[in-house]
Amino acid sequence: MTDHFKTMGQQFGRRSWAEPWKIKMVEPLTMTDRPYRQSAMQEAGYNTFLLRSEDVYIDLLTDSGTSAMSDRQWAGMMLGDEAYAGSRNFYHLEEAIQTHYGYRYVVPTHQGRGAEHLLSQAMIKPGQFIPGNMYFTTTRLHQELAGGTFVDVIIDEAHDPQNMHPFKGNVDLDKLQDLIERVGAGNIAYISLAGTVNMAGGQPVSMENVRLLRDLCDRYGIRIYLDATRMVENALFIQEREEGYAGKSIAQILKEFCSYTDGAWMSAKKDNLVNIGGWLAVNHNDLFEELRNMVVIYEGLHTYGGLAGRDMEAMAIGIVEAVQDDHVRSRVGQVRYLGQLLLDWNIPIVQPVGGHAIFLDARSFYPHLSQDLFPAQTLAAELYLDSGIRSMERGVVSAGRDPETGDHRYPKLELTRLTIPRRVYTQAHMDVVAESVKAVYDARQQTRGLKLVYEPKYLRFFQARFEPIED
Ligand SMILES: Cc1ncc(COP(=O)(O)O)c(C=O)c1O
Repeated sequence: MTDHFKTMGQQFGRRSWAEPWKIKMVEPLTMTDRPYRQSAMQEAGYNTFLLRSEDVYIDLLTDSGTSAMSDRQWAGMMLGDEAYAGSRNFYHLEEAIQTHYGYRYVVPTHQGRGAEHLLSQAMIKPGQFIPGNMYFTTTRLHQELAGGTFVDVIIDEAHDPQNMHPFKGNVDLDKLQDLIERVGAGNIAYISLAGTVNMAGGQPVSMENVRLLRDLCDRYGIRIYLDATRMVENALFIQEREEGYAGKSIAQILKEFCSYTDGAWMSAKKDNLVNIGGWLAVNHNDLFEELRNMVVIYEGLHTYGGLAGRDMEAMAIGIVEAVQDDHVRSRVGQVRYLGQLLLDWNIPIVQPVGGHAIFLDARSFYPHLSQDLFPAQTLAAELYLDSGIRSMERGVVSAGRDPETGDHRYPKLELTRLTIPRRVYTQAHMDVVAESVKAVYDARQQTRGLKLVYEPKYLRFFQARFEPIED
C-alpha cells in the first residue's frame, strides 16, 4: 500500500467518524452504459426530472422524500391509526412538533407546498409584499398566486458563490427596513424566512440575525414565518460557527431559533426523514382557525391533512431522530466530504459548503456558455451521460419568467445541485460522484449548451424539454 493513501479522518487531521446507523435492507441499483444513457437523456428532453428512476445509478436529484427511514419509523407505520378523524398518530405528530419546534398549533399537510398554499392564501392580501431571504420556487409561486410580490432581502454575499461569509442566509436588515419604509408596514404580509436557504446553496441564518429580525419586526408589528424544511441543518451551523452555541444541542438551538418566529411551514420530506408529508405550525389562534378551516378544502380533515395515519407516525418518530446531534453531524459531514474532494481538485462549487447539497457553479464551470444556453441544465445532462448520476438545475430554468414582462429571470447564481439524500448513500458513492464531476469538468471545453424546445406555464424546470446545440 502506498503511504499517501489516507482515511477520511486523516485527510482532515482528526479521527474518522462513520454513519450512526447500519444497513438492514438494500435496494439494488441499475448500472448502464453511455449509449443507453444517451438515448434515455434524449427521451427525457435533457431534463433530469423526466428520466425514469430505474435508469439512474446514483440519484442526487433531491433530498426530498428520498431519505431512508429507520427501523423504528417502519415499525411506527404498522401502528397507523387510519381513522378519518382524530387519529392517534396526529396527536403524536402534534406533540413532536410542539416539543421540538415549540409552536402552539399544528396543521398537517400532504407536503411542503400544501402548507405554503394555505399560509399564502391566509396571510397575503393582493398587492402586498413578502420579503424573504432569497426565493424558493414553490414558495414564491404560492405567494404570487395569492396576489403578493416576493422581495429578496438576503445579504449580498449570498449571491456570490465564492464568498466565505459563515451565515450567507442572513437577512439584510437595512434592505428590509428600507422596503418597510418605502411601502409601509401594512403592505408587508409577513417575512418569509428560510433556514437553511436552499437556492443560495444550503446556507444558514445566524441566531443573532433572527433575533435582530424579531426586534425589527416587533417595531413594525410584522410577523415572521419560517420555512423550517432544513432547520436542523441550520442549527448545526449555528452550533459550529456562532459564539455561545458550541455547548448547546441541535434540539436546543432549533427550539430557540423557532422561538423568534411566529410559526413555520415544513416539507417533512427533508429534515423530518419521511418519504411524504408536511405541516404548518403557528402561534396565533386566529390564523390557526383560518388554516384549520382551509385545510379541509384543499388537503383533508385537520387531523390528517392529506396524509395516512402511518405517515404521521413515521413523521413524529422522524422528528425525534432528526434532532439528534450525531445524525445531523454525519449527514452534513457526508456533504462536506464530497465538497472537499471537489475543492481539492479546483472544481468550482458554492462555498462554504451548505447543509444538504453540493452546488456546482455552472457559470465558472462553463464560462463560454451564456445563461441563454442553460449552463446548469447542460451540466446536469452531462453528469448523467458520464456516469448515470442524476442532479438538478438551479439557475435560469428554475428562476422561470417574470410574470410582468414574460422574460427569463436571470439569477446571479447558475448552479447544478448534487443533493445528498439522508442515510442512503455511502462514502464510496461520494467518491464515484466526485470522479464523475471531475471527468465532466475535464471535458468542459467541448460542451455546447442546450436550447429550450418546450416550456410549461408553472414551475417550468420540472417538465421543460431541451435539445443540444449542434456545432
Ligand atoms: C426550502 C424548501 N421549501 C419548500 C419546499 C417545498 O416542499 P415540497 O416539495 O414538500 O412541496 C422545498 C422542496 O423542495 C424546499 O426545499
